[in-house]
Amino acid sequence: MRIMAKRVAVLGGGVIGLSYAWELRRRGHEVLLFEAGECGGQASGAAAGMLAPFSENGDQPDDFFLLCLESLQLYPRWVEQVEAASGLSAAFVRSGSLYVAFHEADLLALETRMRWQNDFGAGARILTGAALREAEPALTGAAVAALYIPTEAHIYAPLYVRALEAACRREGVRIFDRQGNVELRSLDPVTVSAQAGAFEAEAAVICTGAWSGSWQEVLGLDVPVFPIRGQICAYAALPDRPVRHMVFGSQGYVVQKANGTVVCGASEDVVGFDTSVTERGIGRLERWYATLLPGRAGRPVHAWAGLRPATPDGWPLLGPLPGARHIVIAAGHYRNGILLSPATARAVADWLDDRAKDGASGVRAAGGGDGRGTGGGQAAGAPGARTWRPESFAPERFSGNRSVAWL
Ligand code: FAD
Ligand code: GLY
Repeated sequence: MRIMAKRVAVLGGGVIGLSYAWELRRRGHEVLLFEAGECGGQASGAAAGMLAPFSENGDQPDDFFLLCLESLQLYPRWVEQVEAASGLSAAFVRSGSLYVAFHEADLLALETRMRWQNDFGAGARILTGAALREAEPALTGAAVAALYIPTEAHIYAPLYVRALEAACRREGVRIFDRQGNVELRSLDPVTVSAQAGAFEAEAAVICTGAWSGSWQEVLGLDVPVFPIRGQICAYAALPDRPVRHMVFGSQGYVVQKANGTVVCGASEDVVGFDTSVTERGIGRLERWYATLLPGRAGRPVHAWAGLRPATPDGWPLLGPLPGARHIVIAAGHYRNGILLSPATARAVADWLDDRAKDGASGVRAAGGGDGRGTGGGQAAGAPGARTWRPESFAPERFSGNRSVAWL
């Protein structure tokens, strides 16, 4: 199908805005990206960079899990293309993960998780005793078992957003950063007002992270996105005792990064738009770190915080506005925005191209799969394929009481 090239304004230069800008530009659209501060300067640059749909969503294979899993499947090829386009590394590492249990009673929960996750290509197994010590020698002997998932991966988020920004610039996305308060003056046509001037476009994508609630008056639609602060810190890695996997537990996670640090996160604080770190928040992480990895107690070399864009039900707002398909909202990615960047970029670009109202590529349970584990998705509609349903993420799902007839 031939796609008409459009002029698209992308609002927000975090991982979500940058991913969409790049995907839209690759499809031949003219793209203008507006960022209040520095690209990647908020939640995206603060993230731990874990690509962990199984470890982060352990309850059930719901639509959010399917969306996250599709994104993990897209990642290797996507990141290879971002790196080729930018000439920069994003430090993608297929480290695998361990979800650790400290009590026999927690084993049942891990086994339940393993059973349904293996239907989706996790390749998970439970490690105990010597097998666990051999897999992760740094781990405390107090851990009785861990769910090992070889298919999960991580990237180094600050490098990833830098690579995305460079890829965008090289492909011809016009980036207007350090613009302060960018506004939408009108919706049809789209008129963006920024320090650099006023710009018209045929379509707009709103991806302003935790700040996305500020658009609800101009959109005439509830946009219930709010900030949840994540405090996080990093320790110097020990060259002779690397942490090989992402290690998750009930109190947080650790992951060794390409820059020679072990990152330990993270708090979930309801404190508005405050990005400071606190003694209490980092102190809790210090205790968790020392418990999980004995012999490493001490102060982190660096501590920081970012604002996750949260929604009341924890799922992002994704999709075109009712009655105005040229305005797309993509916000509220909460704990998984880095993971979700390829899948949601593709879905948003498909919506703007009017190509696939269903968005999803389909994720097949292992029983009927193609044998490539999380390496390959299936065409939507293939027998046995399970796809996420776009209506689960529709922006208007929170707008019971407001009119959307603003055009
Ligand atoms: P942001 O990165 O916040 O970008 C939004 C941008 O919009 C900002 O740069 C802001 O300046 C700009 N903006 C705001 N208002 C305007 C305006 N009016 N005009 C123009 N620009 C505007 N996710 C994972 O997948 N894996 C992880 O391991 C992970 N770890 C995390 C750890 C921590 C401590 C935190 C805080 C988050 C973590 N996340 C992780 C979540 C992830 O960081 C977010 O989901 C993701 O960064 C959201 O991206 P975004 O582009 O929507 O938001
Ligand atoms: N996904 C990890 C975090 O948000 O802290």
